[in-house]
Amino acid sequence: MMKRLITYSCMAIFAMGSMAQNQKDEAQMNRFISGLMKKMTLEEKVGQLSQCSGGFATGPDNTRISRTEDISKGLIGSLLNVSGAANTRKYQEAAMKSRLQIPLLFGLDVIHGYRTGFPLPLAEAASFDLDAIERGSRCAAKEAAAAGLHWTFAPMVDISWDARWGRVMEGAGEDPYYGSLVAKARVHGLQGDDLSKENTILSCIKHFAGYGAAIAGKDYNSVDMSMGQFVNFYMPPYKAGAEAGAATFMSAFNDFNNEPSTGSTFLLRELLKNQWGFKGFVVSDWGSVGEMMNHRYAKDEKEAAYKGIKAGLDMEMVSECYSKNLVSLVKEGKVSIKLVDDAVRRILEQKYKLGLFDDPFRYCDEERERTVIGSQESRKEACYVSERSIVLLKNENSVLPLSSSIKKVALIGALSKSQKDMCGAWSCAEVGKVVTLYEAMEKRGVDINYNDGYDLKTNKIVNLDQTLAAARQSDVVIVAMGEQAWESGEMRSKGDISIAAEQQRLVSELVKTGKPVVVLMMCGRPVIFNEVRREAPAILCTWWLGSEAGNAICNVLWGDYNPSGKLPMTFPQHNGQIPLYYQYKSTGRPTALGGWCAKYIDIPTEPAYPFGYGLSYTTFNYSDVKLLPGDGKGTYTRVAVTVTNTGKCEGEEVVQLYVRDEVASITRPIKELKGFEKIKLSPGESKTVTFDVKDEQLGFYNNQMKFIVEKGDFTLMVGGNSRDLQEIKYILN
Ligand code: NOJ
Repeated sequence: MMKRLITYSCMAIFAMGSMAQNQKDEAQMNRFISGLMKKMTLEEKVGQLSQCSGGFATGPDNTRISRTEDISKGLIGSLLNVSGAANTRKYQEAAMKSRLQIPLLFGLDVIHGYRTGFPLPLAEAASFDLDAIERGSRCAAKEAAAAGLHWTFAPMVDISWDARWGRVMEGAGEDPYYGSLVAKARVHGLQGDDLSKENTILSCIKHFAGYGAAIAGKDYNSVDMSMGQFVNFYMPPYKAGAEAGAATFMSAFNDFNNEPSTGSTFLLRELLKNQWGFKGFVVSDWGSVGEMMNHRYAKDEKEAAYKGIKAGLDMEMVSECYSKNLVSLVKEGKVSIKLVDDAVRRILEQKYKLGLFDDPFRYCDEERERTVIGSQESRKEACYVSERSIVLLKNENSVLPLSSSIKKVALIGALSKSQKDMCGAWSCAEVGKVVTLYEAMEKRGVDINYNDGYDLKTNKIVNLDQTLAAARQSDVVIVAMGEQAWESGEMRSKGDISIAAEQQRLVSELVKTGKPVVVLMMCGRPVIFNEVRREAPAILCTWWLGSEAGNAICNVLWGDYNPSGKLPMTFPQHNGQIPLYYQYKSTGRPTALGGWCAKYIDIPTEPAYPFGYGLSYTTFNYSDVKLLPGDGKGTYTRVAVTVTNTGKCEGEEVVQLYVRDEVASITRPIKELKGFEKIKLSPGESKTVTFDVKDEQLGFYNNQMKFIVEKGDFTLMVGGNSRDLQEIKYILN
């Protein structure tokens, strides 16, 4: 006891010491920045608020030119889409020629790994492994920092219930609770505890706010949601990102509550900066200050600049409303210099924290770039995360894992040889170093009978007879199918998310050969493939996994890694069901009642696969759900469940806790994820998993945007996915 007390008091002294040190550091930073700002002209201040694209375009752009002249006049604060130690050095040298030598900030969309490609963020979220997710971001940050970058425009934390929206690949899926935890893990992975370290960069929470709710899943479309919907479902991951200390936020393209997000004082100034106390800076999305004119919210660039800066938008990406108009707006007395100063200070603070004022070239070390990027360590990490991202959807007759007695494999599907597709959308990975499925199998020494099966461009079946003959001559058939990488991502919304009919027919033909068929579904979003679901005995969802895709898939196929992923988004059966999500509300005519109820007359209401779903090569049994007393402080009660591995091999299970508020002062969802734990069990082994039930699990935001917990009846549910759950009642007195 004494020893523990001493440890605690040492820890307290240490914590106080580091708090004092932080305060000292902050005071020092403030003094430095105040001194610098005193020397800055209004033009130089506005320069800090301007970001332009130095390289390729990731949006419409008429202004992309070499800006070295403007940079050396101190009229640009940041560049995006420039990377590489030598390249960034060139621009930084120009900045060092400016009067006050304020370093540039280099940003890039490092979305899932830099040169070593990691799984798509949606895929990675399927791991339900926060440590793996954080490691993925850490690795991306390490490589990006070695390539001269200071800042990534990630993580995207937009909740989405609409698989037609191509950008679902970039987020953590549909759930606000899980999305919040993933947001924190990613921010921490990117930024670590100290931004001045070599392996950390600034993160950017985007797209604030509601971008994932684009009407009809059409990218860039309007958003219209009630405040109740926003605060309880869409807001939590943004807030979690701010709480995790994200250095920057990006405003969204869409309007929110009838104002473009980029010009929304409510979102940027009131909610983010005032209520949440966010100390970093807000960057617009690509051209979105200028796009306020397209929204018909600003009549010209000057009005757009006025509305942006008033709202709390600190840095303008690509459009030039600030650089052309802010100086005159201040001189005319329409915009207070205080607003400009606040934005400048926020940006300079991040440059200071990165250590750029000590050494503007500290990220431009070509030697470091050569050793860090693509290292064996990074590839090992990528493989580790990739294995955990794969979801086993079906495994009849235990077709998987493949037994060692299998001699000949028919590998079908042009996607299995496509390095580019394995990278997925929004990729920075070195395509030539991606291990495809074909290559990984070859390396394993598998006797492969390969056929394209379908044409990648047209999705039409090719050489069917030859493909079927290959299947007949083999012990097992593996079919790589799905979308191509370019089919998801920004500007990739679809009206129909079904897998090409000919690809599905190919599977039917292969099944008819009587050989066991394993389908690998490669996709960047939930997709529809009802025929394949019915006919193929085994299906793995392998998404897009990046540089180590082939190795990770083989490790799962041959059982070196037992799949443990769970779907972070509901997979629909029909396009007409979308938007589809598990945490829907009861309604006045619940579907379960039948008759005059919420349903369709032509399609089912059930999804193909529910949120949280995913199998293992072993099986798990849930038993003995019980309530245990809380601690009388913040924990009302605890719910315990015993999970037993009833199969023949070791495996991991994501044990999930859902909660339903039976009666509340506002309408509430039929269930909401409120806890999970990933456990590993040997065959026959049992473990009791216990979840604390606290405020945040039982409460909600009311219509006044106040978080409250109401007494009364609750149902607590535990299980291995959002559908198959065991319930227990709880009364909060
Ligand atoms: C537009 C995208 O919406 C955003 O997420 C991205 O960071 C910027 N372009 C920069 O490429």
